[in-house]
Amino acid sequence: MGIMGHSFETVESMEFRHGMSRLGAAVNIVTTRADDGPCGFTASAVCSVSDTPATLLACVNRTSSCFPAFETAHFFCVNTLAPSHEALSNLFGGKTTMAERFAAGEWIEGRTGAPLLKDALVSFECELTHSLDQGTHRVLFGRVIGLSAADRQEALLYCGRRYVTVGG
Ligand SMILES: Cc1cc2nc3c(=O)[nH]c(=O)nc-3n(C[C@H](O)[C@H](O)[C@H](O)COP(=O)(O)O)c2cc1C
Repeated sequence: MGIMGHSFETVESMEFRHGMSRLGAAVNIVTTRADDGPCGFTASAVCSVSDTPATLLACVNRTSSCFPAFETAHFFCVNTLAPSHEALSNLFGGKTTMAERFAAGEWIEGRTGAPLLKDALVSFECELTHSLDQGTHRVLFGRVIGLSAADRQEALLYCGRRYVTVGG
């Protein structure tokens, strides 16, 4: 209900998507370790929540192939991509097997078991503290328990339905 009892309609999903396409965001690969091996997907829906305690959030589509792994995970890792990772972003962006995804790029197993991308701009190792479902997605809240940042600063953003390079 809005003002004076008026209820407003939600904008159409395509209109929303069009609007959101203008909101540039960093590109990340969110990973976890499932019982049957590493699992990960490309995500731009990642943001900082609080610095005390250090907390971030990531949104995962509940229909995605790696959702079952994140549903039972206790830990996950957010790997922020550099411009050189554009092909990796597309590979982790859907319709490929986990074996194909992790065959590309250099991955190391973090102390939580979740894979870390060796040359990521920054990797945040997280403990899943809380999650909630909203619409088609699950919002994962992660307490940051490990962080490794590269010296390089150039970032890969996704904006206007294309990749853009910033910083340096
Ligand atoms: C640039 C980019 C950003 C994306 N951001 C998200 C995101 O924030 N959350 C999400 O669930 N999927 C996002 N996706 C789509 C997932 O990466 C994709 O659905 C995932 O790999 C699962 O696909 P699958 O079901 O074929 O495995 C994004 C894809 C791309 C290319």
